[in-house]
Amino acid sequence: MNTPDTQSIPSPFEPFNLGPLTLRNRFIKSGANEAMCLDGRPTAALVNHHRELAAGGVGMTTAAYLAVSAIGRTLPNQTWLRDEILPDLRALTDAVHAEGAAISAQITHGGSFVTGMHAKGRLMSASSGLNPAGLMKGNLLQRKMNEADMAQVTAEFVEAAKLARAGGFDAVEIHMGHGYLLNQFISPMSNRRNDEYGGSAENRVRFPARVLRAVREAVGEDLAVLAKINVADGPSRGATVEDGIVTAQVLQDAGAHMLVLSGGRNVESTWFMFGSNMNREEIIKVMKLTGDRLGAFMMKAAAASERKIDFREMYFREYSRKIRAAVDLPLAYLGGVKSLDNAETAMADGFDCVVMARALLRDPDLVAQFRSGAMRESRCDNCNGCVAYIYHPDGTRCVYRGANDPQANRIYASLHSARSS
Ligand SMILES: Cc1cc2nc3c(=O)[nH]c(=O)nc-3n(C[C@H](O)[C@H](O)[C@H](O)COP(=O)(O)O)c2cc1C
Repeated sequence: MNTPDTQSIPSPFEPFNLGPLTLRNRFIKSGANEAMCLDGRPTAALVNHHRELAAGGVGMTTAAYLAVSAIGRTLPNQTWLRDEILPDLRALTDAVHAEGAAISAQITHGGSFVTGMHAKGRLMSASSGLNPAGLMKGNLLQRKMNEADMAQVTAEFVEAAKLARAGGFDAVEIHMGHGYLLNQFISPMSNRRNDEYGGSAENRVRFPARVLRAVREAVGEDLAVLAKINVADGPSRGATVEDGIVTAQVLQDAGAHMLVLSGGRNVESTWFMFGSNMNREEIIKVMKLTGDRLGAFMMKAAAASERKIDFREMYFREYSRKIRAAVDLPLAYLGGVKSLDNAETAMADGFDCVVMARALLRDPDLVAQFRSGAMRESRCDNCNGCVAYIYHPDGTRCVYRGANDPQANRIYASLHSARSS
């Protein structure tokens, strides 16, 4: 439906109109939990990290994993959006804008995926029952959300989006993938409801679409409103690409300015999310360094149960093209983009933007390097070592940008607030 003819294929360096926002080019840094936050607020290291990405040429960078409420956090230090951190958010967005890039806030609610702290009472999810993700912190049971819960969470997403606007963000990305609360509705692996929010793919996306519609109504004139969805979950009992198509169609009708196409679930299918296996050695190393047995255990357990898989560049391409063919709204390709050729292929496939996580952790100035012709390919070797550093107090980093690399974005400044950057 939306595949361009050769004449009209844009260059990934061309600007792109994304709702009320114009991006200087079509390269977006994916939301990738930087872990550079302390006591629920951004740090100076986070500001440096995104400043470096912006200076490196991306059109837009994404501040990952900002919870819409304290109970919506997965990890104790994770930022949650509230008035008192507005100056920290401003420091972050000002730094990115000064380098000419836009910045999106990925807003999320963990639902029952709370791995880093004990929550009082049962955590909310689409359905009640056992909560495997809560094993280590005693969050063993989850409860099915009722209408009042849904109204409250919808209002929290709206307030978070308004706060993001007040904090200077240009876009919000509502996280509907990877096993967080809104995905717990979309995925048949976690949604066993038999009301209008369960059963068919249309029903399962009803609540996430309600959230998106409310956010779009509240801030959509001023901010681009994106959603990150799964093209599929990976396991055969999970959401299929046919479900992904329905999800995309419903979110298009709900008014999304663009969808970021991802896949996989944190507990069941990280191999699908990353198109490759977790890095056990690095996980064990981080465990020894930090004594964070919980995080390490979770990641090791996920690594041990995962299917063996060989990395392929653009590993979501077949799935994402099916979604491209079924909807008209802008779509961002994500998953194994490493080279300028990959980005151009995504444009030729009819995608509007390309989103990268690991390649930009390895080479934050990759877009500038592509533009100058100095590099055509990222040096990322898909080792997935970076993923282990979500649990390191220094924050997420590429393992090849080590502690002695003066350019690395370590959280050495972690004890300073974003305001002091
Ligand atoms: C260290 C790390 C942390 C991540 N954290 C998040 C996150 O907070 N939110 C999210 O939506 N995806 C997260 N992801 C997934 C990425 O956004 C992306 O979907 C995935 O890495 C595939 O893209 P890539 O092949 O360009 O790396 C993370 C990825 C990495 C490597």
